Amino acid sequence: MTPLSDEQIAFVQGALPGVILHEAMSKHTNFRLGGPAALYVVASSSDGLLTAVQTALQAGIPFYVFGGGSNILVSDDGYEGLMIQAANREMSIHENRVKCESGVITAFVARKSAEAGLSGFEWAVGVPGTIGGAVYGNAGCFGGEIKDVVATVDAYRLSDGSRMEYPNAACAFGYRDSLFKHEPHVILGCTLTLQPGDTDAAMRTLNEINARRKAKQPLAEASAGCMFKNFDFRDESELKALRRNSDIPRGMIEAKRLSAGWLVDQAGLLGKTMGNIKVSDKHGNFIINTGGGRAQDVIAMTSLVKMKIRDEFGIMLEDEVQLVGFGE
Ligand code: EPU
Repeated sequence: MTPLSDEQIAFVQGALPGVILHEAMSKHTNFRLGGPAALYVVASSSDGLLTAVQTALQAGIPFYVFGGGSNILVSDDGYEGLMIQAANREMSIHENRVKCESGVITAFVARKSAEAGLSGFEWAVGVPGTIGGAVYGNAGCFGGEIKDVVATVDAYRLSDGSRMEYPNAACAFGYRDSLFKHEPHVILGCTLTLQPGDTDAAMRTLNEINARRKAKQPLAEASAGCMFKNFDFRDESELKALRRNSDIPRGMIEAKRLSAGWLVDQAGLLGKTMGNIKVSDKHGNFIINTGGGRAQDVIAMTSLVKMKIRDEFGIMLEDEVQLVGFGE
């Protein structure tokens, strides 16, 4: 990583008065680890977010926009550039349309929509982080995916500096995937279309989802949620070709998707520890920082898990968590 020059730092400080130097990213990530960002700023409006991005571009320095810090792993060496936290949090509901800026917390959108008697987004109470992050990774849980409710996405396209309103069909949503992972954009907001429903029923669903998550996932621990993507397969012939294909639960065969957590569990890795990093005893797809952990140990742990799953099943797991500051 090339260190920023004094001129670059001074330029950013001049343009963004709120910028902080050497901010420990461990304070801003759910993993509670990660070294310092050379420069760090909180953008509390969409205009502020755009200004921060344009400042980094003008200064010729790398930048990274993140939302809740729930799905990123920042290197122990930190980030030699400008880390921008999207905290643009305007939200409004008109009839069945929910308009939010990208920094609104996804679970808050789920709750407010349910309170407004709208249905179809209750599941998202279980999604950590911001709605911008949820759109970026097409977040989903308990049968829902954000792609099913997004009407439009408001985003700044970096290739030509234009602000676009993408309809759902233009967002190339896939399993934990979207256009925004492949073509650099800054997501500024989105509009969701939900179904008119009943507040009591929506709140009941919301509470059930919270209870199911608490029962299955180690929510009280420091982690970035699910570390790996689940493994999608096209047909059963692909399953037959696996090195080990017995005891696969019927539900996973029907869904054509093997849970990465289940694979880790089957490989006997629950509770595996390296330094202060541990595979959760509760869910195999959660890697936990038990206190004072290092990103380096998370990488060592994910490598070990990937090798074991490759050797036992012939499946190469892919990261779901975004890596930041690793020379990407
Ligand atoms: N299972 C095990 N052992 C484990 C983990 C899971 O046997 O250690 C079994 C479970 O008992 C269940 C099956 O595997 O029969 C599926 O597990 P689960 O319902 O927990 O779902 P998942 O496929 O592991 C996905 C998402 C989660 C989301 C849950 C709940 C991914 C990578 N994960 O997990 O999302 O919360 O469904 O709907 O898509 C995240 O994206 O960060 C995340 C946690």
